[in-house]
Amino acid sequence: MKKVSVTEAIRYRRSVRVQSETPIDSSLVKGCIANATLAPNSSNMQLWEFYHITGEETKKAIKAACFNQPAARTAQQLVIPVVRMDLWKQRLQALKEDLITGFEKTKKRDPEKEAKAMAYLDDEMPEIYQKKSWWKTFSLQRKVRQQGKTKAVYREVGACDLRIIGQRSTALAAQNFMISMAEVGYDTCPMEGYDSVRIKAILGLPDTAEINMVIGCGIRAENGIYGDQFRLPLEAVYFEK
Ligand SMILES: Cc1cc2nc3c(=O)[nH]c(=O)nc-3n(C[C@H](O)[C@H](O)[C@H](O)COP(=O)(O)O)c2cc1C
Repeated sequence: MKKVSVTEAIRYRRSVRVQSETPIDSSLVKGCIANATLAPNSSNMQLWEFYHITGEETKKAIKAACFNQPAARTAQQLVIPVVRMDLWKQRLQALKEDLITGFEKTKKRDPEKEAKAMAYLDDEMPEIYQKKSWWKTFSLQRKVRQQGKTKAVYREVGACDLRIIGQRSTALAAQNFMISMAEVGYDTCPMEGYDSVRIKAILGLPDTAEINMVIGCGIRAENGIYGDQFRLPLEAVYFEK
């Protein structure tokens, strides 16, 4: 297969609503999911999971939960990035273990720097991630507003902000996945048209998990792309200051 540049992959990618009947190679798709996990993400907490749907029964159920819209109905396989904010304690533990391994590998150790890095994980991260009561969130937001009058502060401390943090990072992973699929000549269509409760039930996920999107995968059919790619002119969205 001819190597393509990132720009070529980005330009090849379109939302393909009709995939052909040609099957796709699961191991190539899995490789693209491995690329997804290399996406930048908030504090490297990796609060995501990726469900690769290849089984006939599961595919049928997921397609129905996507209302059998064309991009789902014609997909050969589906990939579902899921946000798992509820796994923050486990992920934080893995991050700490990696940090300690890193310290141990360092030739010239710096106890002050190490303590600072550990304190970030031990003190600041739980402050951000633990489920806050309404009152705690309110007081934290009030504190931020007061401090923000005199100095620059991090303001996204509400429960809703936490969901955005998770969705944002997982969406970056989803984009890594779709561009990687384009690199190997495969097509995708991201979807937000689905019944999330049904999808979570099919995947055996708890209520606390959030579906980031459902991505239909395959090889474009002749009529698979619905029109030329429309984007606003760059001048309408680009601002140099
Ligand atoms: C978060 C998200 C949700 C989307 N949901 C759907 C969907 O449910 N069904 C669909 O056919 N396309 C869906 N799309 C595809 C968009 O309509 C498409 O990206 C947009 O029209 C631009 O076209 P392009 O991707 O070919 O450049 C979605 C895209 C994104 C990023």
